[in-house]
Amino acid sequence: MALVLMPGIAEAVEFGNPQLGLAYARVRCAGCHRVEVGGAISPLPVVPSFESIANTLGMTARALNVWIQTPHPTMPNLIIPTEERDNIISYIMSLPVKR
Ligand code: HEC
Repeated sequence: MALVLMPGIAEAVEFGNPQLGLAYARVRCAGCHRVEVGGAISPLPVVPSFESIANTLGMTARALNVWIQTPHPTMPNLIIPTEERDNIISYIMSLPVKR
């Protein structure tokens, strides 16, 4: 698969399926995070939206991968199958970056 360089997205990711990632995020993540494009405010206002996560300076697929597998006190431990993890990461990294 060719790596297509697209301006305006956080980082082109060569793995995962962004559409499936969004579908999974709507079920598993949307209770706390805004997972769709269109704003920084999440259902739980203290929780970063996926768009703002994508816009975090220096955010990379690798960093997301580490975060998603690391337990955090404020977020329930997420047990996400590897394939779904790749899909979610490719979805987040496909979100528009405003810089
Ligand atoms: C019960 C609420 C809740 C759910 C469900 C949830 N999160 Fe979170 N998430 C949080 C909170 C709270 C934070 C902020 C934690 C912090 O900053 O310490 C966070 C932070 C994050 C971050 C890091 C943001 C950053 O800027 O570093 C990522 C990535 C993330 N969540 C991904 C996910 C994914 C993917 C899912 C679904 C599979 C998910 N979250 C489901 C509450 C949730």
